[in-house]
Amino acid sequence: MRAHPAGPLHAGIAPPPATGPAPADLGALDPQVWPRSARRVDGELHLGGRSVTELAREHGTPLFVLDEGDFRGRAADFAGAFAGADVHYASKAFLCGQVARWVAEDGLHLDACSGNELALALAAGFPAPRIALHGNNKSLVELQLAVDAGIGHVVLDSFDEIDRLVPLASARVSAGGRPVPVLIRATVGIEAHTHEFIATAHEDQKFGFSLATGDALAAARRVCDSPALELAGLHSHIGSQIFDTAGFEAAAHRVVGLMGAIRDATGRVLPELNLGGGFGIAYLPEDDPVAPGDVAAKLRTIVAAECAELGLPVPRLAVEPGRAIAGPGTVTLYEIGTIKPVRLGASGAPGTPLVRNYVSVDGGMSDNIRTALYDAAYTCVLANRDSDAPPALCRVVGKHCETGDILVRDLWLPADVVPGDLLAVAATGAYCWSMASNYNYLLKPPVVAVRDGVATELVRRQTLSDVFALDAVLAHMPAPSPVIDQPAPELAAGTRS
Ligand code: LLP
Repeated sequence: MRAHPAGPLHAGIAPPPATGPAPADLGALDPQVWPRSARRVDGELHLGGRSVTELAREHGTPLFVLDEGDFRGRAADFAGAFAGADVHYASKAFLCGQVARWVAEDGLHLDACSGNELALALAAGFPAPRIALHGNNKSLVELQLAVDAGIGHVVLDSFDEIDRLVPLASARVSAGGRPVPVLIRATVGIEAHTHEFIATAHEDQKFGFSLATGDALAAARRVCDSPALELAGLHSHIGSQIFDTAGFEAAAHRVVGLMGAIRDATGRVLPELNLGGGFGIAYLPEDDPVAPGDVAAKLRTIVAAECAELGLPVPRLAVEPGRAIAGPGTVTLYEIGTIKPVRLGASGAPGTPLVRNYVSVDGGMSDNIRTALYDAAYTCVLANRDSDAPPALCRVVGKHCETGDILVRDLWLPADVVPGDLLAVAATGAYCWSMASNYNYLLKPPVVAVRDGVATELVRRQTLSDVFALDAVLAHMPAPSPVIDQPAPELAAGTRS
């Protein structure tokens, strides 16, 4: 069981803080963790050639700052490493109209995992043939949208879904359209972890058709029996934030084996193989992600070897990176509101600080749920200035009415941080804005892209009026105060110089 987030005094014990010794330079920007354009200019953090103080003044805080060059550079790195294969950007990591356009312009494909992600991509002009639709419970409406739009692949996830799709696909074929291309998502029995993989029969989860029970083969037969469906290939996704390529290699081995079994059972040689996403990124300087080129080389080698063994032609490969494209290039800027030193207990181990500063910022678990949900580790720096003050043990927390509302569990910040300073949390581009909520009626922050000294708002800040509009009583009432409705940046930044 996880420790109570209330901390050591709760249980009357004083475990040492989970962070190592303070780094020599508390303001250092490790290039593995920070966006490619991150620099200190006269001590202040600059992103995409823009000062964070100016960005905060113009757009308010909390603020997602997305380094366009970083996002598109990483997309290009994957496209280059997987040349001859299809790279699908897993849009659940972060999607908005402009991102859909960049991904389309840069020649990638797109993975949507709901009808609304699909609808957004289509509305932004994303070419339908380059979209795949995922989901373990696609509704009739979602499937109809996919069929009508003519998307590249529906990734089948259950027998119910096949039953639901066949009549829609048959109607399209009867009307002179082509059969609907599908992939079968196979559960290959690999449980992938960040630093390890366990090749067990990890069947007890909701996605895909089990390879071990024969469901995946049965699904292939069912698809082959329907002239309105075209079985284009197989899909496998083993997890997320994975550093070790061994899990992908084991999955590739098993899924190619399934291709062989399908050929033997149905006579069909499948032309495509999608090995999913899950490539890890560095949230902390000590994290060690695998470069796209290395992943690509390993996957190509193992798929080629397995195919040779089974006498199969090598299929066209596809991968679906989300976090590895969107994650590292975005930083969340927060303004510090309060700082509270909290005693850690009198019996700390020698050398253990006895005080932790709770540094509260103006966002929290509503804009980054990952620390609370997955115990995710982040790092952050004092962003609006540098400091040579000694290190102080800190915990960066949000403003929600929840003890587990933690953004950065343990880190060292300069002891002279004060309310009004800006903090920048690194690597928040994936699964932060996209998982944001309105808990405690906090409003979703804007996303601003920076490039070559220019900042462009991609998504505006949600206003209280936006939220009131959903409420039967409040829909037509003005939000009580313009400050609460939409933080006026001059006011929000009032405590900063
Ligand atoms: N393909 C499929 C079928 C997926 O289910 C996912 C992620 C991806 C690709 C992209 O995985 P990535 O490359 O981004 O790791 N909310 C969690 C992550 C959930 C991932 C769900 N599926 C988090 O914040 O860590």
